[in-house]
Amino acid sequence: MYKRLFTSPPSLAEFERLCSQTIKPETYPLAGSIEKNVPIYNLPDFHSLVADKTTITKLQDEWYHILLNGPGVFVLKGMYSTTNEGDDDALSAATTAYQQIISNERRSSEKKGDHFANTGANDRIWNSFSKHAVTDPASFSTYYSNPWLSYVSSAWLGPAYRITAQVNVVKPGGQAQNPHRDYHLGFQAVSSCAQYPRTMHSASAFLTLQGAIAHTDMPLASGPTWLLPFSQQFAEGYLAWTLAEFRDYFASHYVAIPLERGDALFFNPALFHAAGANRTVGLERMANLLQISSAFGKCMEAVDSVVVVESCWEVLVEMYYRATREEEKEEEQGPSLEVSCLIRAIADGYPFPTNLDRRPPAPSGLAPESEQDVVIRALKEGWTRERVVSELRQMRLDSGDEMSVK
Ligand SMILES: [Fe+2]
Repeated sequence: MYKRLFTSPPSLAEFERLCSQTIKPETYPLAGSIEKNVPIYNLPDFHSLVADKTTITKLQDEWYHILLNGPGVFVLKGMYSTTNEGDDDALSAATTAYQQIISNERRSSEKKGDHFANTGANDRIWNSFSKHAVTDPASFSTYYSNPWLSYVSSAWLGPAYRITAQVNVVKPGGQAQNPHRDYHLGFQAVSSCAQYPRTMHSASAFLTLQGAIAHTDMPLASGPTWLLPFSQQFAEGYLAWTLAEFRDYFASHYVAIPLERGDALFFNPALFHAAGANRTVGLERMANLLQISSAFGKCMEAVDSVVVVESCWEVLVEMYYRATREEEKEEEQGPSLEVSCLIRAIADGYPFPTNLDRRPPAPSGLAPESEQDVVIRALKEGWTRERVVSELRQMRLDSGDEMSVK
């Protein structure tokens, strides 16, 4: 009889079979190269095509296939170009903002835990997304308006997603993590995971996209993420990653791809992976770890989008009018690519849960306005910061979300 739950021990033989696959280069024709079963996309090659819908659709099709049926991981080289002045400024300024946050938090006595390392061994910024927004809205806005970030997020999650981020600095001598899977089921005890039906084990992987943006070069000796291509395809993986025979298999088969500053790595959260050991002398490996959540799931970290919009409002307005001036656009054409990508990053694009008595489904008849709809309307109508903040807070009150209104 068919069983709702996984009741047999996970099969190492089946895991080995899945992880022994090899990529055919013709499956991913837009990848510049494939290293150790990891497709590498050289984004500067696509720089002139960043607004070309046909090319973007092809790239998103390849990324989706990689995450679902392929190796589960790929690299976007030069996502933040270190030769393009604007991008490099954003990356450098973001790094400076992170260092400022780290030193401020170090001065406070509050103990910070880590998922896998002893307290104090590494530097960690929880919720670097919100903290970056209020520390330096200008570099935050440039950093998160990067169209490639929006394209890769929507390729896996669709148009409504919530970015959360954590900065991790692994110092020389820093230990490797144990191999694991990530949020949602990856952050539950195995005994709890075992109570979820098979479908939820699959669903967990569709609700999040994992990413890492390299803020320093990451040669192999510094421990860039250890990865086990194809392991996301193993249905019982959330029940297997703590078992000794699976850890042993990981230890003898993982791969790692060296990254340069500005490169990004994206992977299916069900991929077996681990941060590597830093065996360098003097290189503090810094990454901004992205956890991008579907609007249909629950994020790991709470982001108060009104605070982020409030902090970035002047920068967003300036970006909006600059693009309008440069392109001499008609207002009806909507915001530019960068403005759209930034709005997707900072405001919620999904209007539920809500109170349908107070917020009737309009204008489509299916859903009330989302935060993103309000922000776009505010830009078009030239609202002040006070007005947009007040309208977004009122929207929360009307939705019955009084708890989050400060
Ligand atoms: Fe992880």
